Amino acid sequence: MGDQPVVLEPVGKGNRAAILALELLPRQQGFVASNAESLAEAKQDDEAIARAVIADGRVVGFLMYSAPEDDDEAIIYRFMIDRREQGKGLGRAAVAKALEEIAKLGHIRRVSICYEPENEAARRLYAGFGFVEQGLDEDDEMIAALELDG
Ligand SMILES: CC(C)(COP(=O)(O)OP(=O)(O)OC[C@H]1O[C@@H](n2cnc3c(N)ncnc32)[C@H](O)[C@@H]1OP(=O)(O)O)[C@@H](O)C(=O)NCCC(=O)NCCS
Repeated sequence: MGDQPVVLEPVGKGNRAAILALELLPRQQGFVASNAESLAEAKQDDEAIARAVIADGRVVGFLMYSAPEDDDEAIIYRFMIDRREQGKGLGRAAVAKALEEIAKLGHIRRVSICYEPENEAARRLYAGFGFVEQGLDEDDEMIAALELDG
C-alpha cells in the first residue's frame, strides 16, 4: 500500500474531542497512555508538543514529542492510530511527517522513541525508518534511536 497523505495539526478546541474519542485495540491498551492522560500532561508541560494526525480531514491518530531547544535530541513518547484506521499506512505516514517536522526545527540531530518490547508493530514500523534499538530503559521499555542526516 502506498503512503497516504496525512498532516499533523496542533491540538486545540477544534480537534480535542476527536482525539479523546480515538481508540486502541484491547491488546494494545498497555502500549501507550490514554490520550486523555497525554492531553492533560501536555497542558502541564511546556516542552510537550502534541499533534493530531489528520487524514482526509479526519482525526485518525495522536502523537506527542519533546524537542528542547537546549538539546539536540527529540523524543517521540506517545503515538497511536485509531483501531479502525490501522493497517492502512497512516502510522507510517504520520511518523514520516513527525520526523519532517522535527528535522525542520534545525537543532535536532537524533530522535528517540520508546515502546514495549513485545510491541511488534511498533518495532517493525520504526525499524523501517532506520531506528536502531538501544536496549531497555529502567522501566523495561525498548529505546530506539535514529540519527538525522545533515
Ligand atoms: C503502531 C501503530 C501506530 C501503527 O499504525 P498503523 O497505521 O497501523 O501502521 P501502518 O499501517 O502505517 O503500518 C506501517 C508498518 O508498521 C508495522 N505494522 C503495523 N501493524 C502491524 C501489525 N499488526 N503487526 C506487525 N507489524 C505491523 C509494519 O511494519 C507496517 O509496514 P508493512 O505494512 O509494510 O508491513 C498502531 O498499530 C497503533 O496505534 N498501535 C497502538 C499504540 C502503539 O503501540 N503505539 C506505539 C508505541 S508508543
